[in-house]
Amino acid sequence: MNGRHSKLTDWGLTHVAVGPRDTVLDIGCGGGRTVAKLAAMVREGRVSGIDHSDASVAVSRKTNAAAHNVEIFHGSVSALPFPDATFDVATAVETHYYWPDLVANLREVLRVLKPGGTFVLIAEAYKGGKHEKVMQQFERIAHVKLLRPDEHREVLASAGFSDVQVDELRDKGWICATGRKS
Ligand SMILES: C[S@@+](CC[C@H](N)C(=O)[O-])C[C@H]1O[C@@H](n2cnc3c(N)ncnc32)[C@H](O)[C@@H]1O
Repeated sequence: MNGRHSKLTDWGLTHVAVGPRDTVLDIGCGGGRTVAKLAAMVREGRVSGIDHSDASVAVSRKTNAAAHNVEIFHGSVSALPFPDATFDVATAVETHYYWPDLVANLREVLRVLKPGGTFVLIAEAYKGGKHEKVMQQFERIAHVKLLRPDEHREVLASAGFSDVQVDELRDKGWICATGRKS
């Protein structure tokens, strides 16, 4: 997981401005590679990672054990254990299609963002991209519902995000959707 998504993550993170003092949340943090990348970007800020899998939390904590500004939480995007308006930036890499109620969960992300804060969703699992056939199999095997690029725009807008942008790198089969909290 950590290695496979690294280049996709680097590309996705170019879509969001992360300041050195920012407070950042990585949702569905898996093995913690994105958390580590973010921690290096916010040397005077803080990064929280959260995942609902015990195994992911354990690996993520190990990956980031040496970082001074990282904390990894166990929990679901359905009920984030943070007060309203905590984060400047929230990220979600290859995870949103597992979320149990996407629009409601995106509203929960919006709740923990500060006004003016940004959410970035990064994925290679979506409909209508370069890897369409593989993704159809993945949908069946993993029992997930993948979205088309325009559906990413719709779900973010429905959840209440402003300035929603969707960028697709077609030759790689990567998608990135961003939205801002007004
Ligand atoms: C394919 S992995 C991606 C991990 C990591 N973001 C990366 O890019 O390597 C998906 C992750 O999302 C997590 N996840 C799925 N549903 C979740 C939920 N409802 N709340 C929090 N994490 C969730 C899984 O446990 C898993 O670690």
